[in-house]
Amino acid sequence: MAGKGSGFWNFMAPRYARSKISDEATYQRKIDETRAILHDGMRVLEIGCGTGTTAVGHAPYVRSILGVDFSEKMIEIARARAAEAGVENARFEVGSASTLKAQPASFEAILALNVLHLLPDYAQVIEKAYMMLPPGGYFVSSTACLGKGFTPVKLLLAVLAPLGILPKVQYISQDELLAAMRSAGFEVISSWTPPAKMAATFVIARRPSAAY
Ligand SMILES: C[S@@+](CC[C@H](N)C(=O)[O-])C[C@H]1O[C@@H](n2cnc3c(N)ncnc32)[C@H](O)[C@@H]1O
Repeated sequence: MAGKGSGFWNFMAPRYARSKISDEATYQRKIDETRAILHDGMRVLEIGCGTGTTAVGHAPYVRSILGVDFSEKMIEIARARAAEAGVENARFEVGSASTLKAQPASFEAILALNVLHLLPDYAQVIEKAYMMLPPGGYFVSSTACLGKGFTPVKLLLAVLAPLGILPKVQYISQDELLAAMRSAGFEVISSWTPPAKMAATFVIARRPSAAY
């Protein structure tokens, strides 16, 4: 079911589909590091999959990939993209990150790319991701960590988000993000942030293989 706030993303979807990747080298590094942990037996879930570019790209390397997004327009475009690419093991569903329903250990990898900072309940979504993975399963995220200090962007967000012109953003720090993952039970395998201003922090975390 679509959720509150999806109107902005429905409006943005066609523009998002046409937009160019702003930093190709960083995008490619994230793709490569993700692909290094993927294998052809994996069932993958992508939360907030947008127009499906990344899911369609990873599909040939995994058993199946399910992309979920609360914007119907994003999902429409993602389905068309998969059909155009002839990708048959990628499925796309309209759904909110907050109300995801899945059995324990139903995916071997979960991706949340450029979405956790948009979720007021991001810590609970991380906990749910932990539950949906088996021991040894991976959680991969890319998250804008704007932290607590003042920046002009925050002023803009404070004015424009209530009007629905920009999305509502959570001001998470990198420490809070990593703490939320560790508190859910994840082991952080790697974490890095490109030098560019406001660049997203990329994290690969893993549900530990055995109880300590
Ligand atoms: C910045 S875009 C990122 C899209 C894609 N993951 C990427 O990296 O290109 C954020 C996406 O998250 C989706 N989104 C935001 N809040 C969501 C929620 N609560 N549940 C599901 N999807 C959500 C939006 O519709 C949008 O497609």
